Amino acid sequence: MSSHCNPIVMKSSKGGPLRGEAHIPGDKSISHRSLILGALAVGETKISGLLEGQDVLDTGRAMEAFGAEVINHGDGEWSVHGVGVGGFFEPSKVIDCGNSGTGVRLIMGAMATCEMTVTFTGDASLNGRPMGRVTDPLALFGTAAVGRAGGRLPMTIVGAKDPIPVCYVVPVPSAQVKSAVLLAGLNAPGETVVIEKEATRDHTERMLVGFGADLTVEDTVEGRRITLVGQPELKPQTIIVPRDPSSAAFPVCAALLAEGSDVLVPNIGLNPTRAGLFYTLQDMGANLTFENMREEGGEPVADLRAQYSPNMLGIVVPPERAASMIDEYPVLSVVAAFASGQTVMRGVKELRVKESDRIDAMAKGLRAAGVTVDEGPEWFTVTGVGFGNVAGGVTAKSRLDHRIAMSFLVMGLATNAPMSVDDGGPITTSFPTFENLMKDLGAEIVRQNE
Ligand code: S3P
Repeated sequence: MSSHCNPIVMKSSKGGPLRGEAHIPGDKSISHRSLILGALAVGETKISGLLEGQDVLDTGRAMEAFGAEVINHGDGEWSVHGVGVGGFFEPSKVIDCGNSGTGVRLIMGAMATCEMTVTFTGDASLNGRPMGRVTDPLALFGTAAVGRAGGRLPMTIVGAKDPIPVCYVVPVPSAQVKSAVLLAGLNAPGETVVIEKEATRDHTERMLVGFGADLTVEDTVEGRRITLVGQPELKPQTIIVPRDPSSAAFPVCAALLAEGSDVLVPNIGLNPTRAGLFYTLQDMGANLTFENMREEGGEPVADLRAQYSPNMLGIVVPPERAASMIDEYPVLSVVAAFASGQTVMRGVKELRVKESDRIDAMAKGLRAAGVTVDEGPEWFTVTGVGFGNVAGGVTAKSRLDHRIAMSFLVMGLATNAPMSVDDGGPITTSFPTFENLMKDLGAEIVRQNE
């Protein structure tokens, strides 16, 4: 679905402490993959705790357009009756992936080796994002793509009639590109190999193995080498979607910033390819602890306890950690504004091609709120001024980007004057319960134009 029509202006201000438990919705990355792999399995996949954000709902509708049956049973329980690898039907209409780069790139991969022609589109943000990073490797299978200038949507993909398996070294650290190639490899005969120099989130690999694919991962001198044997019969699964660490980041950071706060965020996955922010906050001196550490479904899980942390220090974030916290830099840059000293974030070029140019979006809003930000093509630094010294008092542009909107709303909980965002509407793409969850904890967040 393309973007909502009326902007929702939202304001956050300093108030009392945040207290209580924050129950985070399902992981967005795993939710997309559950629907897509469920559609590629033969039979019924059951999913609990699916994220019912607009991005994921758009992927569900897309899977229906390809012939799968997607049923919402209520309370986060869903099922998908899949059509099997190579069993997709050609959709009779354009596939609209709304705001979701993950949705469109993974679905392009999944259909790229099926003999069909499919046109994709999205909202203004998605239609501005580069698709060449996916269509270039898909061309190696024999797939053709025609889009707008710069490889942008709307774009038509002509799936390969006789796909050939490929060996592809991913040139940018991107789980979406890796996953698109692996999903295309499912319907190619023989072995498809993907090599990534830096490890990115590994949900596709883990879930493909869970669905019964023959997939192996080796650490080699070239990087992580993933080998997938094509044309498996995927077996339907029962999936419990873990809670999203990228969404947990917002109440966690809010609790560190709002005076007197003490918030428990239960059941958060600490998969090493996703948890970089939490270790970075600890390195900055945050009062953030992992309680009740355990393993669930083969993944490390903990209850996060975040408490007001007025003595954080700026740090150099290790660039090799970037892939494991790539979506968390916007909110980290907010925390950095309240720390003492400079926080240096390098190796983050990918932030420039997310739902918005996230370095530019954060730099402009932070500067307007009185914070010094320096930036280059692949880095940015925030010079923290310490608690009580961040002015605020501006309306930041959210640029159709959920994480930019949530980051500035978290910021307003600790700035001297309130912060507003010109449109909080995009928050529903990934965290539809954000506003109520934050208010239940005690946050002062209001809508200004309703
Ligand atoms: C995602 C991968 C990341 C991330 C996005 C979700 C995924 O994008 O930013 O929110 O589910 O594969 P890139 O692959 O472009 O880094």
